[in-house]
Amino acid sequence: MATDSDAFVFFGATGDLAFRQVFPALQALIRRGHFNGTIVGVARSAGSLDALRERARASLEAHGGIDAQAFAKLSERLRYVNGDYQDPLTYQRLRQALSDSKRPLYYLAIPPELFPTVANGLAVSSCNQSARVVVEKPFGRDLASAQALNKTLHHCFPESDIFRIDHYLGKEPVQNLLFFRFANTFVEPIWNRHYIQRMQITMAEAIGIEGRGRFYEEVGAIRDVVQNHLLEIAALLTMEPPVDRQPDALRDAKHRAFDAMRPLSPSEIVRGQYRGYRQEKDVAPNSTVETFAALRLQLDTPRWSGVPIYIRAGKRLPVTSTEIRVDLRQSPHAVFDNSPHEPNFVRFRVSPDVIVSFGARIKAPGEAMVGENIELLARDSTVDDMTPYERLLGDAWRGDAMLFVREDEVESAWRVVEPVLDNVVPIHEYEPGTWGPAEADKLIAGDGGWRNPEAPHP
Ligand code: BG6
Repeated sequence: MATDSDAFVFFGATGDLAFRQVFPALQALIRRGHFNGTIVGVARSAGSLDALRERARASLEAHGGIDAQAFAKLSERLRYVNGDYQDPLTYQRLRQALSDSKRPLYYLAIPPELFPTVANGLAVSSCNQSARVVVEKPFGRDLASAQALNKTLHHCFPESDIFRIDHYLGKEPVQNLLFFRFANTFVEPIWNRHYIQRMQITMAEAIGIEGRGRFYEEVGAIRDVVQNHLLEIAALLTMEPPVDRQPDALRDAKHRAFDAMRPLSPSEIVRGQYRGYRQEKDVAPNSTVETFAALRLQLDTPRWSGVPIYIRAGKRLPVTSTEIRVDLRQSPHAVFDNSPHEPNFVRFRVSPDVIVSFGARIKAPGEAMVGENIELLARDSTVDDMTPYERLLGDAWRGDAMLFVREDEVESAWRVVEPVLDNVVPIHEYEPGTWGPAEADKLIAGDGGWRNPEAPHP
């Protein structure tokens, strides 16, 4: 049995991620009684403990509100270590702040180029002893840099104590993909190439890059969301059943799915950039970074051979929604329903609300034997109140690695996207508020076309 951590240390305590996600998650964990250790914020610029407390208050006021009791506990447990990440004295101060801790949990809410510096600083000061570390995405920027980063981290922490976050894995409806697949007897017999014709995964965002020009210029849509969130979803949809519910059984099964994904070919991807992106702050005037990508993925396994998985992600699209649609094959001989019609399908909407539904055919009322499409809703709800960060930080605190990405998975995912990174294929401009460049439609024209998610209910 893994033991709970006893101190939570976050680097980048004054940063954007801490403000948007970490303070709200900590307050929520404390409110539920899931968290009872010291909290140490490390930063170069907070000024003082009181200033950090004020920052925590402002974060909660902006993101979910203050819970008086939980916030009082958070404030009381909060410590502050000031210092440059290059400076060995910072880690000496951290050691003092952690003098009572036997199993600290470090969270690196800092730019990835600082991961090696901080990991080495922790190791040299022996702060890494019996510690766990949570690492944010993006994990590397290609296969070689991910391997180098894994090597650096392994000098300081064993793989079992490294928790690579992909916040999509902490989303309730993403976990439901697994549950749904392996908990229902009617699913497994049809979940293969004999019954499934194709899948589509669309991650549409109405927002642009929201002032994150510097970050986005380094990544683009493929590195930002395809290599991680969307390939993870593809792996959950296609993996074989794990042998048991242990974290490594799930991660073994997922890794095999990643390994079966064929590296993308330039002929199977379209990159787009919304008009106006080049005028955003911190974006190069001639930038060729993609804000949209559409691609066709194939898996080389007996279960999935010949079943394309179309993946599409973009900023400044008409709606914000992440949706999966699995189309079944048409019946080879429909006695009554022989006019062209929609295939049966399963639809999973994972964000911002949750939908699980089945598309079916039914006789339209009347004398004639003609059909109509219906959609059976199995679940239609707003997402539960546990944010992915609360769930994932709580899991890391308890040492439960199930929803974190293992070294081999992250490297296999890079292997899939590596052939199409950067400027291998040209960039096409699209109008903000549209579904991306026309070239993306051509990619799927012979296969039923894209199914655009609707805007969520108000
Ligand atoms: C992040 C990306 O990982 O996911 C962002 O860096 C993106 O660019 C975000 O906006 C979307 O997450 P969610 O949970 O709002 O779908």
